[in-house]
Amino acid sequence: MFNSSTIQHLGCLQKFCASMDTKSNPKFVFNILLLCLFLKCHISLAADTISADQSLSGDQTIVSAGGVFELGFFKPGNSSKYYIGIWYSKKLVSMRTIVWVANRKTPVSDTFSSVLRISDGNLVLFSESETLVWSTNLVSATTSGSAQAVLLDSGNLVLRADGSNANTSEPLWQSFDHPAHTWLPGGRLGFNTVTNRTQIMTSWKSSEDPAPGLFSLEIDPNGSNAYLILWNRSRQYWTSGPWDESSRTFSFVPEMRLNYIYNYTYVTNKNESYFTYSLYNPETISRFLMHSSGQIQQLTWLENSGQWNLFWNQPRKQCEVYDLCGAFGSCNEVSAVACNCLTGFEPKSQNEWDLQAYSSGCSRITNLQYCGTAVSTSAKYRAPDGFQEIHNMSLPQNKQSVVVGNISECGPICLNNCSCTAYAYESSTRCSILTGDLLDLQQLATGDRSGTTLYIRLGSALPLLESGNANKRSLVIALVSGTAGLLTITFGYFLWKKTRGKERERRRKNGETKTLEKERKHRKRYDEILSNVADGGGMNDTELPLFSLQSVLAATNNFSEANKVGEGGFGPVYKGILPGNQEVAIKRLSKKSGQGHQEFMNELKLIAKLQHTNLVRLLGCCIEEEELILIYEFMPNRSLDKFLFDPSEKFELDWGKRFRIIEGIAQGILYIHKYSRLKIIHRDLKASNVLLDGAMNPKISDFGMAKIFEINQTEANTNRVVGTYGYMSPEYARYGHFSEKLDVFSFGVLLLEIVSGKKNAAFHRFEHSLTLAGWAWELWREGRGMEVIDASVRETCQPDEALKCIQVGFLCVQEDPADRPTMSSVILMLANEATSLPPSKEPAFSTHRNSVAVSSSPQTTPIISNNAVTISLPEGR
Ligand SMILES: *[C@@H]1O[C@H](CO)[C@@H](O)[C@H](O)[C@H]1NC(C)=O
Ligand SMILES: *[C@@H]1O[C@H](CO)[C@@H](O)[C@H](O)[C@H]1NC(C)=O
Ligand SMILES: *[C@@H]1O[C@H](CO)[C@@H](O)[C@H](O)[C@H]1NC(C)=O
Ligand SMILES: *[C@@H]1O[C@H](CO)[C@@H](O)[C@H](O)[C@H]1NC(C)=O
Ligand SMILES: *[C@@H]1O[C@H](CO)[C@@H](O)[C@H](O)[C@H]1NC(C)=O
Ligand SMILES: *[C@@H]1O[C@H](CO)[C@@H](O)[C@H](O)[C@H]1NC(C)=O
Ligand SMILES: *[C@@H]1O[C@H](CO)[C@@H](O)[C@H](O)[C@H]1NC(C)=O
Ligand SMILES: *[C@@H]1O[C@H](CO)[C@@H](O)[C@H](O)[C@H]1NC(C)=O
Ligand SMILES: *[C@@H]1O[C@H](CO)[C@@H](O)[C@H](O)[C@H]1NC(C)=O
Ligand SMILES: *[C@@H]1O[C@H](CO)[C@@H](O)[C@H](O)[C@H]1NC(C)=O
Repeated sequence: MFNSSTIQHLGCLQKFCASMDTKSNPKFVFNILLLCLFLKCHISLAADTISADQSLSGDQTIVSAGGVFELGFFKPGNSSKYYIGIWYSKKLVSMRTIVWVANRKTPVSDTFSSVLRISDGNLVLFSESETLVWSTNLVSATTSGSAQAVLLDSGNLVLRADGSNANTSEPLWQSFDHPAHTWLPGGRLGFNTVTNRTQIMTSWKSSEDPAPGLFSLEIDPNGSNAYLILWNRSRQYWTSGPWDESSRTFSFVPEMRLNYIYNYTYVTNKNESYFTYSLYNPETISRFLMHSSGQIQQLTWLENSGQWNLFWNQPRKQCEVYDLCGAFGSCNEVSAVACNCLTGFEPKSQNEWDLQAYSSGCSRITNLQYCGTAVSTSAKYRAPDGFQEIHNMSLPQNKQSVVVGNISECGPICLNNCSCTAYAYESSTRCSILTGDLLDLQQLATGDRSGTTLYIRLGSALPLLESGNANKRSLVIALVSGTAGLLTITFGYFLWKKTRGKERERRRKNGETKTLEKERKHRKRYDEILSNVADGGGMNDTELPLFSLQSVLAATNNFSEANKVGEGGFGPVYKGILPGNQEVAIKRLSKKSGQGHQEFMNELKLIAKLQHTNLVRLLGCCIEEEELILIYEFMPNRSLDKFLFDPSEKFELDWGKRFRIIEGIAQGILYIHKYSRLKIIHRDLKASNVLLDGAMNPKISDFGMAKIFEINQTEANTNRVVGTYGYMSPEYARYGHFSEKLDVFSFGVLLLEIVSGKKNAAFHRFEHSLTLAGWAWELWREGRGMEVIDASVRETCQPDEALKCIQVGFLCVQEDPADRPTMSSVILMLANEATSLPPSKEPAFSTHRNSVAVSSSPQTTPIISNNAVTISLPEGR
């Protein structure tokens, strides 16, 4: 299996090379080095073992018997330091991927004079200065001098007493018991109550520093059968929830369920509790990572694209990682860079920040004038500290609430207290006072209204403006306008309360309690209906305004034909005008059809909870008598298809608008997939379901087909294939199997439609290819990508941007859902100018072979439809 005499030779030669290095004539050294290299090559294929009296240094490696893993010195990224590590052999994973590091905290700087060897029954690493920098640390009285280290194909490095039976004896030591940041299949995470041994995964500090970072994953020591992610081994910010043996998942990690890939097992008994996993298909290459971003990630290697594919991660949102951005840093969920320093602050270590290791946080550009630093002689001539207003922030928990007579006192209170670093308004008589370093701040996305305005205390010289005077003025303005705004709101609130009280009184006087009763009745029915909708999941927290039928009739002129603007999936849509001249779109469930009730409820349930600039907003509903009516914000520019496919209107959409529309749609989909309180698959994305507001901003509509993925699933099957031909992904059309990658597929089709101005559904009528993607792919392969772009924008577009969109489109419409990117990657690809995109495979359905597969599938009725109307097909059984 291995050739121990060769490695011994090599050990000697190696030492020889190292000693010759500086002294001898260069040519001789060169020849010897060549010989070393040759031998090394030979060795690294043959040896998986370091035996007693052998050593490893320089660029020697040992390789596991099946050639899966390799062990040796490595240098992470641009670092100049060396570590002993285990990585996948290059034949399997072309991207160097370290899975284990021995000397995480104690790198060496010269590999040729450092040695890894067996010493007194331990595997030890000596540095160039011959100091012991790492050891397996066994108290090895019995096995002294006779042990060997073997690298297994599982990636486990085991230390055994020499001559012990590898099949039966327990190893003296194994790397699986001491995981670094990676947990490989077959490894265990847990603790043993007999030996008190715990396995903890700790993130690297950064991509170039394997030293233990701040984030660790460990089993709950309290025995709740849950895993925790801790910050600095102390603060818990995520839990897997307890293990549920019946569903074989952790309650908060439903991703683990579906699992035709991973076989997770949890073992707990008197002596030990641990969690382990294996792969159903042993050829899959997969690893589990405690990433330096504070998230755990399950990744699989995609050979074709040469990339690690993220299967799932937790916590799902980057900003849920505690204190990711360090002191005075602010986390942003949607921007490409997760962390930014607050205005007036700069990264403490730009190098670390460049490596996306943010935990060192930010420091002040200008010191505070009256606190902390000694007052210099010139200080009295300087302006006092001031405040910088930062909008839409979520605040940390460690703030103090102070009662004040009026809120204009908040600023002065903060200024007069040296430990105060920021404040915010809480109510008309309360300020939040924040002291010390500000941790865990988050900049909320536009559209998220839950944030507050934070006033950060800064030294007088604000970095934003050059002149000191302007600074002072702007500070004063900021302070005054902030306060004034609040006063207006407060005043408005009182006024509103007062008038509301009067209104009630008037109503009572006029005997209108009847109306109220009626309203209550409708509200009750509404609640009933909603509670009857299956898998509701916390509708209670949504207070959707109820409109009376009377007001809807008035708004639409008794549903007059003149007000009708379209026919939706389940009934007509009217334009309406509410009192106050607010324009609305009113969707009425057709009574005749008898269908669509479910879709109506689905839409009501879902869209009421969704709030995002790129989703159409539901303003209210009306449930009265037999009527089911939804009231939306009105979209003056109707839907995208009205422009895109109309030869006389498509000129309205120049390239800039098209690109903005593409980005907006992507953001909307990302929101429903990832950032709303529910995970939702839209299932019917298409040009006619993208509405355009007055400024041509896209808003996704029609959630009638959408599916809530309760957090307990990432994929599902349906018996009813619904959607629109041409936008459906193959796995969905064939097997009713769907995931968020279905929406990604539809998005890809939509993207190609927007760029080309051609309609996918009507495609085969006048082209050779079966689909738009197939047609575009052919042109692309012939190097004629520009011809894919709509002639009406071809001359004026940004060619790079347009071509990139086409490429992203191709990535989204690939046959295998696993090959398609997630929406977050799509957004990154679209946003970054410089990123090179992974290569994509031929689009699904682009050839006859593919399409035959659709119609000959035993499980589905062939789906042939030329129009863009949503169809709904029962799945053949
Ligand atoms: C290493 O440094 C080079 C040049 O400074 C830079 O271009 C490259 O991105 C760096 N690589 C990493 C992994 O940081
Ligand atoms: C271990 O088991 C394998 C097969 O299971 C066998 O081929 C091998 O000889 C065994 N090794 C020892 C040392 O018993
Ligand atoms: C394990 O830890 C417990 C409590 O911390 C202690 O009482 C026990 O002696 C330890 N056992 C070993 C083998 O170290
Ligand atoms: C574990 O136990 C300690 C002390 O009993 C308690 O403070 C802590 O909250 C517990 N942690 C969990 C996750 O239950
Ligand atoms: C982490 O905790 C240790 C004490 O356990 C403390 O000394 C250190 O400052 C903490 N690190 C950070 C970044 O807060
Ligand atoms: C899943 O893992 C468990 C424990 O490792 C094993 O007993 C079981 O056979 C595995 N199941 C499959 C289908 O491989
Ligand atoms: C627990 O450990 C004891 C002593 O090491 C052993 O006898 C017993 O079989 C173990 N029990 C289980 C369930 O593994
Ligand atoms: C708030 O207090 C300041 C001084 O403390 C006073 O000048 C101002 O008029 C007060 N505003 C209101 C609305 O009471
Ligand atoms: C400063 O504010 C903090 C928090 O509100 C408070 O605990 C402390 O006593 C204050 N110090 C002074 C000098 O007012
Ligand atoms: C803060 O959020 C509100 C509500 O979404 C938005 O109108 C406003 O423009 C945001 N302000 C900033 C500075 O982003």
